[in-house]
Amino acid sequence: MPDENSSRSSLLSLPPHVGIIMDGNGRWAQERGQIRTQGHLEGLKAAKAMVKAASDLGIRYLTLFTFSTENWKRAADEVGFIMGLVIKYLKAEYDFARENRIRVRHAGDMAGLPEDVRKDLQETCEATANFTGMQVILALNYGGRDEIIRAFRRFALRAFREPGVDAEKFLASLTETGFRECLDNPDIPDPDLIIRTAGEFRISNFLLWEAAYTEYYISQKYWPDWTKEDLEEAIETFRKRDRRFGGLKSQSGETVHE
Ligand code: FPP
Repeated sequence: MPDENSSRSSLLSLPPHVGIIMDGNGRWAQERGQIRTQGHLEGLKAAKAMVKAASDLGIRYLTLFTFSTENWKRAADEVGFIMGLVIKYLKAEYDFARENRIRVRHAGDMAGLPEDVRKDLQETCEATANFTGMQVILALNYGGRDEIIRAFRRFALRAFREPGVDAEKFLASLTETGFRECLDNPDIPDPDLIIRTAGEFRISNFLLWEAAYTEYYISQKYWPDWTKEDLEEAIETFRKRDRRFGGLKSQSGETVHE
């Protein structure tokens, strides 16, 4: 929940939707002579702290890149450990979500998740569906290309359910607005700010469609070291960006779309 004394002007200049690529857990652990999974355990603590920090600041949507469609290539014990952390997170954080009216949602291919993770994730999404505070979107078994392919399948299925639709009519019906409605969470606005920790300048298949006009912020810090102050600094940097969405800045300072 936003701090009660948050001024209206500072709330207005907050990015409504922040996405985070939580990178560097493995390096954090290796630099301390620890096994990679210890880094993920610390990463989970950082994720919990970030949910609280973002909610306190008044962020509306926080998307956490938790496990990608490519992360299955990792060793089975590391994959199993991360899935176990997700289950632990969902169970342990429900009370916090209820107290703070936080809604938990999912982005990604639900069908490809292990059954126990899927069940707990679906239950948490349903149990928090009516909470009106910040929305936390767990991008889990998520890939931007995979989301676009799944969206295209939904779009085509929907279109061909109508009688008399041929290839020409189908192609004519394919618009950005109509296609967007078939993405995983069409009601959620595109991310305004995407933060990546651990210093890499890569998008790594995260929110490919949605991030067309997103501002990026790269931090050198490893994810387990990321704090509320780092989030505030990222938001401060975001506030100074000149977002034109392909338009021009008018003399009055307003963005002009051409
Ligand atoms: C990237 O670091 C991190 C991941 C692939 C896993 C992220 C998972 C968590 C933070 C824990 C679970 C969180 C929630 C919200 C349930 P990396 O392993 O690629 O690090 P490296 O690049 O240094 O090897």
